[in-house]
Amino acid sequence: MARFPKPAEGSWTEHYPELGTGLVSYADSIAPEFFELEREAIFKRAWLHVGRVEQLPRNGSYFTREIAVARTSVVIVRDGDEIRAFHNICRHRGNKLVWQDFPREETSGTARQFTCKYHGWRYGLDGACAFVQQEGEFFDLDKADYGLVPVHCEVWAGFIFVNLDRESKQPLRAFLGPMITAIEDFPFDQLTARYGFRAEVPANWKVFMDALQEQYHAPIVHRSQRPESFDAHAAGFEAPHYQIDGPHRMFNSPGIRPWELPEDQIKASEQLLRGGLFGPWDPPDFYEATQIAGMRPGGHERGGVALFEIWTSFGIQLWECGW
Ligand code: FES
Repeated sequence: MARFPKPAEGSWTEHYPELGTGLVSYADSIAPEFFELEREAIFKRAWLHVGRVEQLPRNGSYFTREIAVARTSVVIVRDGDEIRAFHNICRHRGNKLVWQDFPREETSGTARQFTCKYHGWRYGLDGACAFVQQEGEFFDLDKADYGLVPVHCEVWAGFIFVNLDRESKQPLRAFLGPMITAIEDFPFDQLTARYGFRAEVPANWKVFMDALQEQYHAPIVHRSQRPESFDAHAAGFEAPHYQIDGPHRMFNSPGIRPWELPEDQIKASEQLLRGGLFGPWDPPDFYEATQIAGMRPGGHERGGVALFEIWTSFGIQLWECGW
């Protein structure tokens, strides 16, 4: 007996006929040559999320991102009201420009200029080449020809995206599409507490994304993460709504309000962090914010929307994934 209404076709899978109902081939997830094609066709053309505007609070604030899947590094910097992105490469002899102790590690900080550690060329926050060491010894050098190479950079709802395509063919907003932009009014800027961890997953990126999208695994894999007494998933997982929109996809989780559970049913990690899969507990208006229409496209009543479904739907982790 279904807990939530199904589409007229009988199931969510059949609601999207392009998915098909047959066996799924993993051929495209195990072929290195296929992944090489994906580097060019997907990761060097799609808008990639790289950070939040709060990471760039003042003029000259910057951070770098190592985008391994595209074999590049970018530096993102605030230049007055503008947020700019550049390939993190010195125009003199191609040294990596911005790094701290270890060249392959990401870094952040505040600077008035970027100075190359190799021969000391300097670049302004707008990317212009501002200083060349012993400039008079070069032949016909015009610094104006040697600014940092810009990367397309746009911001939506405080999320900073870059696009490595030389001629970005699609504005960010069009790439995100209506399913994502429908949650624009969510108060992302109020989510000020941030916890993170990094895991290296030895799997193709599509396998990883699919694993996040299907929650069939949740009652089994995550069984040990919840208290013995918590039995909300005893009958298996079922989502009230699934949606595909262009390159993006999402599902709505039926959700719970952990803070309303008996104490012995709350996950220890959520007790500690006062937040979890369904967001933080404390901002007073947060729960109301999850009720905006874009957060519940299926119109279901039960509270709580898994924020990671939003993250994965616009591919925040994509560029960190290998094949
Ligand atoms: Fe950067 Fe020479 S490589 S100044």
